[in-house]
Amino acid sequence: MPKAVRFNTYGGPEVLDVVEVEVPPVGPGEVLVRVRAAGLNLGEAKIRTGFLHDRFPATFPSGEGSDLAGIVETVGSGVTRFTGGDAVVGFTDDRASHAEVVVVQEANLTAKPTSVPWEVAGSLFVAGTTAYAAVRAVAPTEGETVVVAGAAGGVGGIACQLAKRRGARVIGTASTKDHDWLRSIGVEPVSYEGQLSEALAALTPRIDAFIDTAGHGNVQLAIEAGVDPSRIDTIIDFPAVGQFGVKAEGSAAAANSAVLAELLALLEGGELEVPIARTFPLDEVQAAFRYLEDKPARGKVVLIP
Ligand SMILES: NC(=O)c1ccc[n+]([C@@H]2O[C@H](COP(=O)([O-])OP(=O)(O)OC[C@H]3O[C@@H](n4cnc5c(N)ncnc54)[C@H](OP(=O)(O)O)[C@@H]3O)[C@@H](O)[C@H]2O)c1
Repeated sequence: MPKAVRFNTYGGPEVLDVVEVEVPPVGPGEVLVRVRAAGLNLGEAKIRTGFLHDRFPATFPSGEGSDLAGIVETVGSGVTRFTGGDAVVGFTDDRASHAEVVVVQEANLTAKPTSVPWEVAGSLFVAGTTAYAAVRAVAPTEGETVVVAGAAGGVGGIACQLAKRRGARVIGTASTKDHDWLRSIGVEPVSYEGQLSEALAALTPRIDAFIDTAGHGNVQLAIEAGVDPSRIDTIIDFPAVGQFGVKAEGSAAAANSAVLAELLALLEGGELEVPIARTFPLDEVQAAFRYLEDKPARGKVVLIP
């Protein structure tokens, strides 16, 4: 029987078990995928602790995981785009990708380019679509200046690169350990420790758009710097949305396989970089989440079932 991650109560990584499960039935329009890589996201840790209980409650026993890349095993009736043996990238809304096999809607899958590594493909969905939505929400144009708070994070790093592709000047807030990497992708780094508004003012007389992936008062800072609320997007500071009328477009706004295919084409062409911090076998899911929550290195953390 295939293995899958389950938890039966809210708590720390220690509540995560890897258990044997039945192979899920494959309905019409669905595809059974043998997972080769499945990314971890902080949102999963927040759901597991119960922190997001009011917005995203868990029912027990709960699975977890949205991001995935793998090989098609079987397809249900009516599936036309994929067949057994195809390499695919996609997502599930069923909290189920941290597993050896997962059933996915055909519409949630796209073909995996051969040159994109499994761990990159399998950790692209949440970070990639969130970054895509955030950049689209603030719509930077040629010559404008965009600030990305949390620029070296999973979402922030992709957002920086997508904003650069629109011709914008991108300034990214990050701790100094990540400044060289940000420079390597054409982003001007600024440290978030210390007086951030003064540091930004020293770099630019005007900020046209602001993407907040970090919280910590960044939305207020953007408002005080004179950025129009319609050009501020936060994926984390939801109280600030009501307070300042800024946008909150995140993964849900771009959660589809067409966006994934666009991002995969950029990766294939060497026009987008998604760093990988570390991979873990499925059986080490507890260690993987401890590592994610400690965040010792930049990049995605990925399970390899
Ligand atoms: N709304 C949505 O749809 C959505 C989707 C995805 C993620 N999220 C949320 O967005 C947040 C970021 O996700 P992620 O996957 O990108 O996380 P991540 O990979 O852990 O990145 C977070 C980054 O923020 C940096 N950071 C920490 N404190 C900061 C501060 N005060 N100012 C600027 N940067 C700071 C961290 O840098 P250091 O390493 O230096 O600490 C790290 O590089 C998480 O809270 C996640 O739950 C929301």
